[in-house]
Amino acid sequence: MSALPGLPRFPADFLWGVSTSAFQIEGATDADGRGPCAWDAFTAEPGRVKDGSDAAVAAGHYDRWREDVELLRRLGVGAYRFSVSWPRVLPTGSGAVNGPGLDFYDRLVDALCEAGVEPVPTLFHWDTPLPLEEAGGWLVRDTAERFADHADAVAARLGDRVTHWITLNEPAELTLLGYGIGEHAPGRSLLFDALPAAHHQLLGHGLAVRALRAHGARSIGIANSHGPTWPASERPEDVAAAELYDTLTNRMFAEPLLLGRYPDEGLAAALPGPVADDLETIAQPLDWYGVNYYQPTLVGAPGPRGAPGEFAGVGLPGELPFAPREIPGRPRTGFGWAVVPEGLSETLRTLRDRYGDRLPPLVVTENGCAYPEPVRDAERIAFHDAHLRELHAALRDGVDVRGYFVWSLLDNFEWAEGYRQRFGLVHVDFATLRRTPKDSFRWLAGVLRQQRGGT
Ligand code: NOJ
Repeated sequence: MSALPGLPRFPADFLWGVSTSAFQIEGATDADGRGPCAWDAFTAEPGRVKDGSDAAVAAGHYDRWREDVELLRRLGVGAYRFSVSWPRVLPTGSGAVNGPGLDFYDRLVDALCEAGVEPVPTLFHWDTPLPLEEAGGWLVRDTAERFADHADAVAARLGDRVTHWITLNEPAELTLLGYGIGEHAPGRSLLFDALPAAHHQLLGHGLAVRALRAHGARSIGIANSHGPTWPASERPEDVAAAELYDTLTNRMFAEPLLLGRYPDEGLAAALPGPVADDLETIAQPLDWYGVNYYQPTLVGAPGPRGAPGEFAGVGLPGELPFAPREIPGRPRTGFGWAVVPEGLSETLRTLRDRYGDRLPPLVVTENGCAYPEPVRDAERIAFHDAHLRELHAALRDGVDVRGYFVWSLLDNFEWAEGYRQRFGLVHVDFATLRRTPKDSFRWLAGVLRQQRGGT
């Protein structure tokens, strides 16, 4: 498929997969008793989504799931990470479970098992039921408790066929983008007052782990975003700003889980509730730890020299005490993100070096890139090839990494970007919902055949 030499051999039991999320692909937002979620309300507000779109249809997966399972089978992945829409299971976030909503995932899981693809459900990928959001969302403790009800309902229905579970997806992004600066739903711009949303998501994770274990789950992880934070210079103010950014985006979400404490006592003291007791719930042992990696962040101090920061195309308010900057001298994806494959191995090594024995095996739960090319996507092939070589280098260095999931199977609704950023291995024509595998799909299928020892 490409002129790139073959990838090195990965362990025989390495888990190869692709990832999606419910809100981004399903559409059918009114079907079978689904309730509204925070993102339905957010997309209805003018100006929130750059192309003015919503996710009422998205990639039409709710109706085309059979076709999508067939694509997974053809791709030859061992696993498929998807999310279970909370407002389908509990349309108002509390109260009675909506059977028809769960039936959808029941059928999907059966079809995946038949196709020889392991289902890896994520319980929460940002679609908070609207009534819970209106009552304060993740800023309030009740949302964590209601999330445990969702975990319980999903485990009761799917637990007989699901081995690997993921509780939350990227609580750091929801905290920063959703509650901190209002670029994502629920569109709140609370800056540091957003931090309770971090704590309550972590608490929700812990309560969900308990609910899953009560149903006998033996392989539980989380999908946390991680990436190197590089200071913009050696000037002490830039180094300090980078450290703070690292604390708030990487350490704050790893350390409560892995070490049972927050990285900074002042930070812990500012959080609501019985934080010490909550940390016991949050720090229950995990079977593995998922890492979503996209790019490093170059961080400097804000101030007269620097404009307000910008991260991944999102402008950050000038009053924040750090200012992410563009990484110079790197190729960029169609989204403008820097392509830095060695940032992946750095991320994996840093986690190992920081947390040592406390770190369970790692799984890369997301890695991917947006490019506009409909089908001939040589850049995506080069992107994954380079990142997989870096992952392999980390393995050779003794970092225990058990799997790699590409974001994403399909072009989909990329949050505040709408349909403008295409991350899929499969092109979706959003007018007709027709799926067309890209060159990268065929390339990955070839890699998987090669890794299994075929040709
Ligand atoms: C991380 C998120 O989990 C996913 O929903 C998103 O589409 C990708 N990053 C790309 O931005």
